[in-house]
Amino acid sequence: MKPMKTSNGSFGRRKFISSFTAVAGLGMTPDLSLSAQTTQPRKAGVAAPGDNHKGACCIASANGLRATSRAMGLLGQGYDPADCIVQGVRIIEDDPNDNSVGYGGLPNEDGIVELDASVMHGPTHKSGAVASLRNIKNPAMVALEVLRRTNHCLIVGEGALKFAVRMGFKEENLLTEASRRDWVAWRASMSGIDDWLNDEQRDAPSGKIWQEPNSEPGKRASVNLQPVPYHTGTVHCSIVTSQGDISSCTSTSGLSWKIPGRVGDSPIIGAGNYCDNDIGAAGATGRGESAIVTCGAFDIVQRMAKGVSPTEACLEAIDSVVKHCLKEKRHRDPKDPSRPDFDLKFYALRKDGAFGGATLFSGGTFAVHDGQTASIVPAAYRFEKK
Ligand code: GLY
Repeated sequence: MKPMKTSNGSFGRRKFISSFTAVAGLGMTPDLSLSAQTTQPRKAGVAAPGDNHKGACCIASANGLRATSRAMGLLGQGYDPADCIVQGVRIIEDDPNDNSVGYGGLPNEDGIVELDASVMHGPTHKSGAVASLRNIKNPAMVALEVLRRTNHCLIVGEGALKFAVRMGFKEENLLTEASRRDWVAWRASMSGIDDWLNDEQRDAPSGKIWQEPNSEPGKRASVNLQPVPYHTGTVHCSIVTSQGDISSCTSTSGLSWKIPGRVGDSPIIGAGNYCDNDIGAAGATGRGESAIVTCGAFDIVQRMAKGVSPTEACLEAIDSVVKHCLKEKRHRDPKDPSRPDFDLKFYALRKDGAFGGATLFSGGTFAVHDGQTASIVPAAYRFEKK
């Protein structure tokens, strides 16, 4: 197996430091539009180039490409690895167009955005997390405060909000107009026998429907609301320094339309996020319940401890998910009961800088900043997407 190469050449430490210094010194991040790349996806069992990488590195779910650049830039400025990834994840939390995380995240069944996040700091083996946090758009930053300023690992609901406000975070409405419209469309499509009317139940208007000046098209008046399917997006980000110090972070708005108070895997240490400074880090995105019942992130790190490569460790954890979650018939694909009807992705980063990712189905990708460039790379997978 040859080490993975990027458009800028090999992963040598000297190149890492020089590009790093240039980027950090200028306060700039690399031009991702130029460096983003994809290659052929890898099937289960086929060696993955990331398994050979050595040195400082940051990986993320595919929506976290910008997070990896920000994190590596801050690492070059001497920040703690936990701060680097939390500030990277903050970019995704702030983005109203990512409807799986932070501001603009899809709400619960009551139309209220509830956020989960966790941070784990390898050098101290300390974690911090918040769950079902309302009105605060950067739950990963609040989780880092739990880690640094409390004797606790996880604070939830009202307590998490109170803690965040005490820490100086500003309360704000996290529901964007787009997320509100998606929620209304989902609610109206739930049933034909409740008081919410869907498109089939409504009569066509006899003329134009009034739009408030400056309102977005579709606000209140839409006759074409398409329900958004259940959605489990999340951002995970892990980093390892050139000294082998590791930190990991996962942040999410959780399963869309969830029962209020539902907590996914993202704030559960060992499920959607785990890190051991002697071994590596792992995280998950996708159906959180499946990462919880298989202790996905912890499982991957333990497999790496036994010498399994990051990519294989992710694939073995995927196999464990398939084995356990198919015991429930509702999770079996009706057309092929050997396959699950949900998706889950795992990401792994080893202490020496090796990395990998795997998904249930083909077509998955993840983000990596190898010290020189940030790019999107294909994930290994268990099943060919039909
Ligand atoms: N993986 C995110 C969630 O299930 O909440």
